[in-house]
Amino acid sequence: DKGTYPYYMLKEIDEQPNVMRKLASLYTQESGRPNVNQALINTMKQADRIYIVGAGTSYHAGLVGKKLFEKLTHVPTEVHVASEFAYENPLLSDNPFFIFLSQSGETADSREVLVNVNAHDYKSLTITNVENSTLFREATYTMLLHAGPEISVASTKAYTAQIGVEAILAKALGEAKQQVIAEEFDIRQQLGLVATGMQAIIDEKEMIEDLAKKYFVPTSKAFYIGRGIDQTVSLESALKLKEISYVQAEGFASGELKHGTIALIEDGTPVVGIITQKRTANLTRSNLQETMSRGAKTFTIVRNGLAQEGDTIIIPDVDEMITPLLSVVPAQLIAYYTSLNKGLDVDRPRNLAKSVTVE
Ligand code: M6R
Repeated sequence: DKGTYPYYMLKEIDEQPNVMRKLASLYTQESGRPNVNQALINTMKQADRIYIVGAGTSYHAGLVGKKLFEKLTHVPTEVHVASEFAYENPLLSDNPFFIFLSQSGETADSREVLVNVNAHDYKSLTITNVENSTLFREATYTMLLHAGPEISVASTKAYTAQIGVEAILAKALGEAKQQVIAEEFDIRQQLGLVATGMQAIIDEKEMIEDLAKKYFVPTSKAFYIGRGIDQTVSLESALKLKEISYVQAEGFASGELKHGTIALIEDGTPVVGIITQKRTANLTRSNLQETMSRGAKTFTIVRNGLAQEGDTIIIPDVDEMITPLLSVVPAQLIAYYTSLNKGLDVDRPRNLAKSVTVE
């Protein structure tokens, strides 16, 4: 039931702070230690490489997961689009461990990969929102997202819940592998900060709707750019905009633009810079400048403390490893308000199904 909300998507965006609190209370202890199935951690400890498999938004959550696993556990991690992995038979390491990310647990392409993984007796974990779904039943281990039903075709709270669960799991595995960085990463406290931070962004809805009207409603194409973890969020931000507002949007590595794609920038093309990492903030700023001098209308989603100028959405300060949990929220709201102000059916965009059960 969407209650007083005009669309499920807005309700589901609003639910994200509570989902973060729920993950903290279910998967961590008062002491801050992760509360994760020990057998799962023991199995993962044997792995020499992690393979994350997903489609669409779940694939994008996997890209963030790679950064988390590599930082916190030092286990090399690959992320694969399910429909590609299924038929390309990528070369595997000696001891692979598979993580399937799927909100619905029913995506046919991911299931095809899991059938193969099981045929080889490899161990796997499904992270899903739906208990007893196909991917839930067929994997060795499972972790639930506890996000509550996600009805809107555009995935929002499942993405942030997937990243939350990946961060908890990476922390648990990193500790088991005695990585100092994992021991020092207080995931329980961070998820609390994320919940408060998400709420602060959500409270700025009206300002974000104004930006959506100014930049995105009048346009047919747009760019999100960033570096590193911000680049992965740029992909998810662009996907949100494409699927519900039909603006042709691209997420891009900001330094790669000038190797060709910058040719698409025209007078008035909106370009959003996502800037949450201290080390690369200035670089992304100068890439934004490059688009401005070719006529782009730019604004930024910036982590508090990093210099801001022009139209800016500030996101509260959290650990640099988990900034996607906050930087994606303005992009979700931008997509929502662009679709709404274009008079489109936000929850049921054309040509799309909530769960894709054919290959
Ligand atoms: O249920 P899943 O997470 O496996 O679904 C994967 C994609 O189909 C899904 O994320 C899709 O990209 C969403 N519509 C994105 O908002």
